[in-house]
Amino acid sequence: MIYLDNAATTYPKPPEVARAMAGVLEKIGGNPGRAGHQGALAGGRIMEHCRELAAAYLGVQTPERIIFTLNCTDAINIALRGSLHLKDEVLVSHGEHNAVMRPLMGYHDAGKIRLRILPPDERGLLSPDTVRKAIGPKTALMVLCHASNVTGVIQPARQIADACHEAGIPLLLDAAQTAGTEALSSIHADMIAMPGHKGLMGPMGTGLLYVGKGLLPRPFREGGTGSASESMRQPDMLPDRLESGTANLPGIAGLAQGLKFILRHQGAIGEYEHFLSLRLREGLRNIKNVRLYGAEDAPRVAVTSFNILGMDSGEAADRLSAQRIATRAGLHCAPAIHAWLGTLESGAIRASLGPYNTETDVDRFLSAVAHLSKGK
Ligand code: ALA
Repeated sequence: MIYLDNAATTYPKPPEVARAMAGVLEKIGGNPGRAGHQGALAGGRIMEHCRELAAAYLGVQTPERIIFTLNCTDAINIALRGSLHLKDEVLVSHGEHNAVMRPLMGYHDAGKIRLRILPPDERGLLSPDTVRKAIGPKTALMVLCHASNVTGVIQPARQIADACHEAGIPLLLDAAQTAGTEALSSIHADMIAMPGHKGLMGPMGTGLLYVGKGLLPRPFREGGTGSASESMRQPDMLPDRLESGTANLPGIAGLAQGLKFILRHQGAIGEYEHFLSLRLREGLRNIKNVRLYGAEDAPRVAVTSFNILGMDSGEAADRLSAQRIATRAGLHCAPAIHAWLGTLESGAIRASLGPYNTETDVDRFLSAVAHLSKGK
């Protein structure tokens, strides 16, 4: 199979990910933080090691501010639901995924917050000046989708963070499509939500939320933390405050291996994917009847959406799937950007690359699209 759906979840994973997960299930008897016996302590060490690797990736010295979550959506929900107050105004970009839009729209519709979607320029980039001008006395948070899961376009996150910080507003960065391939440390985001199972190469059911210094979101779920057990109240200290209930230890052990893989390759993965992505886009551009989305001169991750004129995106993806080529069609849970692209009705086919893709994968995909575009 040619797997080009890495924006949904990367595949395959480095082999050590599955090995570490199986190792936990086979060899570790114990629940981290819940006992003092060897298995529980070994599990606790795996969690702390994973936190340290994530802190190293983000370039922060505070592993306790890395929270294990179920996925990136969960991390975003923890950040939003734990930070906002009645009548706050929240600014978002036009590229937000429903992981951001649905919780915020729910609050907005209930009259709890005011949500403002900021328009991009013609290349799909949100200008820091637009953010500066939009910030008002009630603005409490800016949420930014770092790279669109539809167009792949990367927003100028560092400059947007600066614009927010000039006004004393925190920035929550949704790094669903950039964690693992882009350097996030230089952005200085106040909170960063990341899936464990995409660019960080871990398993599904894992995610991370980085909570910057000075922030202490209210807990989204409360319960046992294995700490301060004499108290019936949720502890204030991180990470415990935001991590209740038994952790996904096999998942975290796998994620630690994914993070090691990322750290070992030191940015080379992003460069390699970019190289493949240029080949893929160039090839698509040369196929008659293909419409590519997203400005060519904008910075982007290796995510490309397109349509074959006259063919439904779902049908095209099904026909590719029949040839053992995995892509994703439809609206990709991001209606605002599809509205901006004019693809709310048609959706689009998305091809997204990962570190295990090859030039041959790209060329076979291009040849299959060329055949489809001729109606073959
Ligand atoms: N948000 C993921 C995607 O874009 C699942 O496919």
